[in-house]
Amino acid sequence: MSKTFYIETFGCQMNAHDSEKVIGTLEQQGYARVQDEDAAGLILYNTCSIRDKAEQKVFHRLNEYKKLQGEGKKFAVLGCVAQQEGEKIFEKAPYVSMVAGSASYRNLPEMLRRLEAGEERITGLDDRQTDLTFETEFTVRSNPHRGYITIIEGCDKFCAYCVVPYTRGKERSRTAASVLVEAKKMVDLGFTEIQFLGQNVNSYRDPSGRMSFAELLVAVGELPGIRRVRFTTSHPRDFTRDIVQAIDDTPTLCDHIHLPVQSGSTAVLKAMSREYTREWYLERMSWIKEAKRDISITSDMIVGFPGETDADFEETITLVGEVKYDAVFAFKFSPRPNTPAVTMADSIPDEVKSERLRILMDRQREIQREHYGRHLGEVQEVMVESYNSSRNQVVGRSSQNKTVNFTVSRIGTQIVQAQPPIGSYLPVRITQTLPNCLVGEATADADAVPFVPIQRVSDFVVLN
Ligand code: 5AD
Ligand code: SF4
Repeated sequence: MSKTFYIETFGCQMNAHDSEKVIGTLEQQGYARVQDEDAAGLILYNTCSIRDKAEQKVFHRLNEYKKLQGEGKKFAVLGCVAQQEGEKIFEKAPYVSMVAGSASYRNLPEMLRRLEAGEERITGLDDRQTDLTFETEFTVRSNPHRGYITIIEGCDKFCAYCVVPYTRGKERSRTAASVLVEAKKMVDLGFTEIQFLGQNVNSYRDPSGRMSFAELLVAVGELPGIRRVRFTTSHPRDFTRDIVQAIDDTPTLCDHIHLPVQSGSTAVLKAMSREYTREWYLERMSWIKEAKRDISITSDMIVGFPGETDADFEETITLVGEVKYDAVFAFKFSPRPNTPAVTMADSIPDEVKSERLRILMDRQREIQREHYGRHLGEVQEVMVESYNSSRNQVVGRSSQNKTVNFTVSRIGTQIVQAQPPIGSYLPVRITQTLPNCLVGEATADADAVPFVPIQRVSDFVVLN
């Protein structure tokens, strides 16, 4: 039992991918992964502290550890709560032996050796000023078709509400050469979709000075065998026009940009230290809308930031109407330890925050209901992700990252009832649009170019 581990991950895509690297590192050190806590000698929680709810979940789980105490199990807390709370975690949960933030994962093999030697208070908390990134060739990717590559770690933006600069440390990019080596290896393993990750992915600066962010996107998009390249999350301040140009010029770059605005009011943006205005953001939106491709735009928003007036909130509502986002992830402001906003009076009552959140989401649903309509009748390339057997539908994702539920009942002249393999790409004609997904029917019509027509029922293959 001693060399077995169980890991649970909270939070963002970066955390999920960090866990893939941590799992690879543990396996390299001779540990075997198990799927439940009872069978594990080492239990790891990779945690998130972006909002109080995420953090509470972690402490709730930590409390549950108690019942396993005394069974000889060891516990490790990783990630953002680990970095934020540090050694205080040992006080709250004395059965925890290791506390490490993401900037220290490079040292995991050494920390694991100390754990095995019986040390009871191991910390990885002092690396936030490092220039080094966590690179490993042992990443265990959970999805065999879509793979993540962290190209930039940390954050130097210090938005007034955000814990990330304090939990993930200084901004540091990997070299373009190392990103390309990893991407090529993934192609050799059969991955067709690569997603670049970074808290501010487009703030990427190649330390060797060889490539810009847009050039790196294109270089990976042009690797033979790559069908889709995504990137998340972008920051408006570093959003340059060559990114739009790269998407226009390179069909494998997905037609989706997630560009969080946070608020439609310039006054609130200033208080948030976002360092752009509403107009400046809208100019970037116009670049995207002027593209030849229909590029889907999505955003994050915070309601109830300290000092947000009704008039400020109204500007957020008019902004979503102007931009016509395809999705908005909206959150009530949550004061976070160490951040400048925690010292501002959290002046908006929770009921008002809830009401603003509801108004925003209602408005956004209306927009999506209407705006998704543009896809009716289109043929879209869909990557198969899963099946919904109760509805007899295949579930996939479009290049724009929209969920497409579709049926495969006819291929050419043949009537079929079949399930194309997970990871395959099919042309799908959109027959219905709902506020959160598209519904369609797989097609092999001649006008379904640029897709390779499927010849036979058995030919559900990745269309390269
Ligand atoms: N309160 C509420 N939402 C927050 N976010 C980040 N920090 C906070 C906070 N303190 C939201 C932002 C960010 C997304 C990942 O989470 O909208 O883009
Ligand atoms: Fe959560 Fe932010 Fe840390 Fe991701 S980077 S795990 S969202 S706190």
